[in-house]
Amino acid sequence: MARSSRGMYCWAISTLLCLLILSLVSPSAAVKHHDFKRCDQSGFCKRNRALADSMIQAGSPDTSPYNLDAPSIKFKNGVLEASIIKSIPNTVPVRLPLTVTFLDRGNVRVTVDEEKRQKGDIELRHDSPVRKERYNEAGAWALTGAGLQSQKSAVLARASKGVSEVSWGPDGRFKAVIRHAPFGVEFYTGEEKQVAFNGRGFLNVEHWRPKIDRPAVDENSTEQQTVEPVEDESTWWEETFGGNTDSKPKGPESVALDITFPGYGHVYGLAEHAGPLSLKQTRGGEGNYDQPYRMYNSDIFEYELDSPMTLYGSIPFLQAHKKDSTVGVFWLNAAETWVDITKARRDTNPLTLGLSGGVVDTQTHWMSESGLLDIFVMLGPTPQHLAKSYGELTGYTQLPATFAMAYHQCRWNYVSDEDVKDVDRKFDKYNIPYDVIWLDIEYTDDKQYFTWDALNFPDPISMEKQLDESERKLVVIIDPHIKNKGGYSVGEELKSKGLAVKNKENNIFEGWCWPGSSNWIDAFNPAARTWWKSLFSFDKFKGTMQNVWLWNDMNEPSVFNGPEITMPRDNIHHGNWEHRDLHNINGMTFHNATYHALLERKKGDVRRPFVLTRSFYAGSQRSAAMWTGDNQANWEHLAASIPMILNQGVSGFPFAGADVGGFFGNPSKDLQTRWYQAGAFYPFFRGHAHIDTRRREPYMLGEPYTGIMTQALRLRYALLPAWYTAFHESSTEGYPIVRSQYYVHPKDEKGYEIDDQFYLGSTGLLVKPVTKEGADSVDIYLSDEENYFDYFDYTVYKGGLKTQRIAAPLEKLPILMQGGHIIPRKDRPRKSSGLMKWDPYTLVVVLSKTGEAKGTIYVDDGETFGYQQGAYVHRALTFADNRLTSSNLGTKGSKTASYLKTIQEVTVEKIIVVNAPDAWATQSEVLVTDGQSQGAKAELTYHAAVGGKAAWATVRRPDVQIGADWSVAFGDTLRDKTDL
Ligand code: NOJ
Repeated sequence: MARSSRGMYCWAISTLLCLLILSLVSPSAAVKHHDFKRCDQSGFCKRNRALADSMIQAGSPDTSPYNLDAPSIKFKNGVLEASIIKSIPNTVPVRLPLTVTFLDRGNVRVTVDEEKRQKGDIELRHDSPVRKERYNEAGAWALTGAGLQSQKSAVLARASKGVSEVSWGPDGRFKAVIRHAPFGVEFYTGEEKQVAFNGRGFLNVEHWRPKIDRPAVDENSTEQQTVEPVEDESTWWEETFGGNTDSKPKGPESVALDITFPGYGHVYGLAEHAGPLSLKQTRGGEGNYDQPYRMYNSDIFEYELDSPMTLYGSIPFLQAHKKDSTVGVFWLNAAETWVDITKARRDTNPLTLGLSGGVVDTQTHWMSESGLLDIFVMLGPTPQHLAKSYGELTGYTQLPATFAMAYHQCRWNYVSDEDVKDVDRKFDKYNIPYDVIWLDIEYTDDKQYFTWDALNFPDPISMEKQLDESERKLVVIIDPHIKNKGGYSVGEELKSKGLAVKNKENNIFEGWCWPGSSNWIDAFNPAARTWWKSLFSFDKFKGTMQNVWLWNDMNEPSVFNGPEITMPRDNIHHGNWEHRDLHNINGMTFHNATYHALLERKKGDVRRPFVLTRSFYAGSQRSAAMWTGDNQANWEHLAASIPMILNQGVSGFPFAGADVGGFFGNPSKDLQTRWYQAGAFYPFFRGHAHIDTRRREPYMLGEPYTGIMTQALRLRYALLPAWYTAFHESSTEGYPIVRSQYYVHPKDEKGYEIDDQFYLGSTGLLVKPVTKEGADSVDIYLSDEENYFDYFDYTVYKGGLKTQRIAAPLEKLPILMQGGHIIPRKDRPRKSSGLMKWDPYTLVVVLSKTGEAKGTIYVDDGETFGYQQGAYVHRALTFADNRLTSSNLGTKGSKTASYLKTIQEVTVEKIIVVNAPDAWATQSEVLVTDGQSQGAKAELTYHAAVGGKAAWATVRRPDVQIGADWSVAFGDTLRDKTDL
């Protein structure tokens, strides 16, 4: 967000005046720590950490008061049901229903509820109208319903001597050993322990209890006073932070568990944090954090780097990785969650007296404020298996429209429709491609969404029409806070129809955000979502046409005068759930509602909606793209964007980007130029800037900067076919779009902490953006034995656990091509991606050491859902035995034939073969075979290797169809030149 506490007071005066004041005060680039809780300021986090400490002190988990009630065990069709009994002195034993569901793919779901709350057998305080159960609807939002079938063939192998053992998974390869007392579960692959629950005794389900009002302590009394409670009750019944008091009608209700990954030295995931990809330890010590990773979606002003502080979105999914295995845990809970991480070295060979080095166990401790314990364990064994499993559960990333993968030009704010038209013209004047221009909050009439500022945007349709002439789009912002003002129909309907979030008294909640006094749509309410849909129809949202798409911001939700800049936890949502229970899902319900509204804007004309969201949860990938919020125009933030975006891929929400150029502040020309180079390889590529910053459209900087940025943008556009293929792969397999080193080379331990270079999809393109001021070279780590080739001049770099230095003057973005891949491109420069639709392709074939290469290409109309009925091309491209072949990977659908017809004129106009064998030196043609011709000739030009550069060859105009079978035969001897 772009507001500080000093900004809040300004709301009384007009927004403009306020902005003026803010712009005069120089911004202090530091997060306001005091606005956000540390663990010791969050009652349940403090209590659970204290419990962990006491267990560590006791030295044994055996004092854990949770035991499985063996007679209660029932096992049927791959589902084990039983009760866990929590026994604590002077309390009736607490019954906690347990369900363990054994799923396919090596997944298992463990759910623990609390019987009393489940049955509504509790009393709420303050006459609260909220639900008595623990929140049990997180799955309804996060899960798709796929991957949840139990594996009926799972076998309860043993149920004796205090242990129950279940085997399941492909060939019964997985085993869960459930210990009864204290309750704990160990998950095995074969005989190897992979994941352990409650091995350290930190399991905690804070059960319901009535509040006992203890008599106040009489300081003057000489008599013995009441005994102090054993547990810290100070925040059980209410909790105050920053002047706000949370009324906690259900008392303490946290859930917590320790989860250990034996032998796993690295864990990744837990988006969203601004820190390294390989997560750090959080219990202090040199180089470690002293706070757990926090997940409580928040609008953090001027967020800091290298920090476990929460940010705008949360994905409680974690992967643990070691050389031959990757396993994962998905903690399905939407309440505030903290995760402690520690690593412990374990001696595996007692005879070496600790000199063997041993192995590292990663220990995690998960703590959520309320809700169920609901955990998926995934036994992998590869990062790809995890991506697929997690994607199956929570949904794969949406396949966006092509324009969404192209370049977006944004700032807060383009001030008028004439301004937008002018920027649009200037991009053309300077021959800079772009697809989308964005309008931030100032386009509205007084921050009333679905309206236009009539003075500055008198004719939005003519603006949209101008954009449409170049197939460009407009994105406008609409936030979840709705101005609370008489006469504003949207605000009035929200209230009169009862669709707003309520406060703890069950009245409409009122708070402050951009429009001043506001109410919030409760998108958990199906009626609210139906109403939301109605607002986007073209006749309702006047001034919009088909090329207008959406940006949902501030949906954590950001409430300027709320506790921790968000909603009070005791606010009430549809179904009488407390806000605390579902806080982290709130943003997702909103952007989902927008996505569905856009689907229905016009009957019969359904295009893939584009929605950008700031807040997110597991499942957001199904309907939105995200960006990393309000970063700063400095080199550190540029560098930090890369692990953050890589982590989005690990966390199953890979359509991610960061504000290019930095949101706060004015980037130097060098910084901005380097940022465009990096941004050209963000899955979501958008330049954005704060209202107080100087104009910085790429053409503003002058040469050489404008030219260099234009090259970066053109590179993005040329590679759009590769991006589209990577997005498609992500949308069907769950794989990240940009992939980290450990993901691509899971066996290479040297790569586990590398998070400043990455691969684009399966293309073999390896990118290392320059993120240091003044740097004119980078060191790039090459894991595998293949040769890598400079993208631009084909200089050869040998791989094999080697770090290579690459020159990187300002005009150069270091990109290498890994031998063995085929990369599809479109090389004709155009104004926008829409205008490239019918352009021919270039295929770059990068031969491996053995003279082979492969790749895939996925193509469809780039805007409709026709691909779901087969309107697409998906082909395998293979170079082997001196022949490049295209073969079909797709399956036919009702629209396949008609689609193929539409693109039969789209051909391959050029083939570039890098690392071409020298035997081709004497050849001048290749033979092309396709449906039309057997052995037509096309011209081949050979370029011998010079200096450290590989030989390469080009084939001009083979003119084969991108959607058809064909092959191109080259000379008949292959020898690896780079290995001489
Ligand atoms: C906060 C967002 O993070 C930022 O990108 C946007 O410009 C402002 N809100 C104003 O809408």
